[in-house]
Amino acid sequence: MAYYIGIDLGTSAVKVLLLSENRIEKTASREYPLFFPKDGWSEQNPEDWYKQAIEALKEVLTDIDKSQVKSISFSGQMHGLVLLDEKDNVIRPAILWNDGRTDKETNYLNNVIGKDKLLENTGNIAFAGFTAPKILWVKENEPENFAKICKIMLPKDYLSYMLTGNLCTDVSDASGTLYFDVGNRKWSQYMINILGIKEEMLPKVLESWECAGTIKKDIADELGLPEDVKVIIGAGDNAAAAVGTGTVKDGDCNISLGTSGTIFVVTDNFSYDRVNAIHSFCSASGNYHYMACMLSAASCCNWWIEKILGTKDYRSVEKVSDKLGENEVFWLPYLMGERSPLNDPYARAAFIGMSLATTKDEMSLAVLEGVAFALRQNLDIIRSLGVEVTESRVSGGGSKDALWLRIIASVLNIKLTVPVLQEGAALGAALLAAKGVMDADEYEALADKLTQKEKTVLPEPELVEKYNQKYETFLKIYPAIKTIGR
Ligand code: XUL
Repeated sequence: MAYYIGIDLGTSAVKVLLLSENRIEKTASREYPLFFPKDGWSEQNPEDWYKQAIEALKEVLTDIDKSQVKSISFSGQMHGLVLLDEKDNVIRPAILWNDGRTDKETNYLNNVIGKDKLLENTGNIAFAGFTAPKILWVKENEPENFAKICKIMLPKDYLSYMLTGNLCTDVSDASGTLYFDVGNRKWSQYMINILGIKEEMLPKVLESWECAGTIKKDIADELGLPEDVKVIIGAGDNAAAAVGTGTVKDGDCNISLGTSGTIFVVTDNFSYDRVNAIHSFCSASGNYHYMACMLSAASCCNWWIEKILGTKDYRSVEKVSDKLGENEVFWLPYLMGERSPLNDPYARAAFIGMSLATTKDEMSLAVLEGVAFALRQNLDIIRSLGVEVTESRVSGGGSKDALWLRIIASVLNIKLTVPVLQEGAALGAALLAAKGVMDADEYEALADKLTQKEKTVLPEPELVEKYNQKYETFLKIYPAIKTIGR
């Protein structure tokens, strides 16, 4: 039996998935710390990613015939800035996708360089979490670190570099840097000049199923793997989740409810959003996608239920499920600022509309509804680009919550389908590992088998009507309170 391994480098943990030609054989995960050194900052140590990925790899490799492992690939948290010096030491902690420190640099790129130039050269405008403004931030605030830069890479590319010694990235992850020309699938010399870096510092760009190299001998020995195990470059986590949920053809949609919340719509033709709220990126299947990324989705629920209410009881909200569409309480899900569609790192979360009669379960319901309304705001923008979306897959931790899926189906007025296998990004990474070494027909058969849908959640007409009205109120809240506290 042949094995293919997917490594999903997430924000709270790394998950390793062992796939055979028949099924998912095993998974293992290891956590690592996330640091918030200042309000709105978010950092991690790349060394922690590597150490924990190796530990999780060792766990899935226990008691299998390791000589049958054919390939390894990745799914990675996107946009993170990893900098290495001339001796390949990490220069400073990685600045992550949900870090909001680069407001000044983002404004400079959008307003001084100008959104038109950015769109023309990259297909996107600047958002605080993208990699380019982070490079400008390091240049401005840590010139001693900037001077040491020899290699610039994204989180999963650091793992691939550690395993192979070859510096590579893939088109989907590179799309989130803002120094990548998405339409032409190559680095943007125009942006490289603006950032004051050199193309030699950047990884070689591959399609997501292409090979970055073979695993280094000492690591193969440590893991007991054959030396010819191929390292396939993989994809950014949303593009990998799209592969893992079968979202690969023109018009297919996937909503991911993880720490972040994303809407991912595949398109065969490259185009971009002139209104500036939605990303235009390369997909991991050779085509493109529109993506809206909300910085806090399932993390709103974890924050509210675990951190604030101090419980692990996520089901208590079901007590008020008869209040769907009638809740007076609203929630703005901007715990880390917001990317799509607000592009506002200073946006903050809020409950609105409580009275003495309000219960904590209604507030919990408002959290689920608030994330759904924010998803709708993004989906409406994607719809306004002429893309028709009537159905979407759902993946990520939040897709296990039946009540939340009911709410989302009615707020968005679309049919939701839930894949049988819920491993999303990690499965996508393992499928890319397989695609990199299999012939095309064999791969298609495997991907079809592993991306079957299990259940369908339909919008409920009465609820759609009620939520349409609530959504109009939701849209008014952020503009009304936006400037408070600035
Ligand atoms: C996508 C994004 C997030 C991270 C989370 O643009 O920033 O989905 O990739 O891991």
